[in-house]
Amino acid sequence: MSRSTRDAAAVPPGDDDDDDLTIRIQALRHTYASGVEAVAGVDLDIPPGQKLAIVGQNGAGKTTLVRHLNGMVRPTAGSVRIGDWSTAEKSIAELSHRVGYVFQNPDEQIFARTVAADVAFGPKNLGFDEHRTADSVAAALEAVGLAHEAGAHPHHLSLSERKRVAIAAVLAMQTPIVVLDEPTTGQDDAGVRLISTIIERLTAAGTTVIAITHDMDFCVENFDRVVVMTRGTVRADGPAREVFAREDALEHAAVEPPQLIRLATALGWGETPTDPVSFVDALERHRRGSSGGR
Ligand SMILES: Nc1ncnc2c1ncn2[C@@H]1O[C@H](COP(=O)(O)OP(=O)(O)O)[C@@H](O)[C@H]1O
Ligand SMILES: [Mg+2]
Repeated sequence: MSRSTRDAAAVPPGDDDDDDLTIRIQALRHTYASGVEAVAGVDLDIPPGQKLAIVGQNGAGKTTLVRHLNGMVRPTAGSVRIGDWSTAEKSIAELSHRVGYVFQNPDEQIFARTVAADVAFGPKNLGFDEHRTADSVAAALEAVGLAHEAGAHPHHLSLSERKRVAIAAVLAMQTPIVVLDEPTTGQDDAGVRLISTIIERLTAAGTTVIAITHDMDFCVENFDRVVVMTRGTVRADGPAREVFAREDALEHAAVEPPQLIRLATALGWGETPTDPVSFVDALERHRRGSSGGR
């Protein structure tokens, strides 16, 4: 799958197009013009096909780190390699052959007048012919459960649907690496399950999936490896169950959902709501439960 995503004509000549698209981040630092050092020395190797989650509190540098992969952010120091490419030497257009990045906020990503046109933009730009573009768009919309909205104006969809349009737009590009920036935000349980299925299918096909998430249940259920970031650095890195056993690291990272989980635990609810909505739901259920009614 990964090889077929790259249109030979659009890949610059002289590229040794080998199949090993290991991501190699070395001594990476990024300081914004404002003076904020968002990434403060990160080393990370991500082998092809891995399912990696990045967690950590807001401002920890997660988005800045992953935006190096598609060239939206450039290293201030250190390097990011994707297979035989150094991202510093590649344009965003070139990097889009290897890395698809789904924005946290779909409204920063979606711009076309119809869902189908938006999802078709990436594959067309990668040089897919009309037939392949149409097939890829149809499959991507099917995967996110929005085939019936192909002709809709994105602004007429809900935020959770627009988020899934943004995911479809990247799926349609069939890149060997997919980066999802907080994909489950605003999704209900069905939406989260759908995204889990997409991730499973992607990795079954050999795609590397990297997701930033605040949803620890989603994280535990879908990812082999978890990286905890604090203040622009990697605080913990390992298999999900190992990392989640490290309360010190999680506490230090002030990952938000575990605070709710801790509160729910302290209240003796016997369940672990991972976002404010499910927390409020649980609170209401427990209130009803304790007042005897239903
Ligand atoms: N475009 C930007 N310009 C200046 N500072 C930024 C920009 N984007 C993020 N930052 C700052 O960089 C730090 C890391 O942000 P970010 O990478 O978005 O973290 P996270 O995704 O973990 O919330 C924060 O202090 C944030 O305010
Ligand atoms: Mg972010």
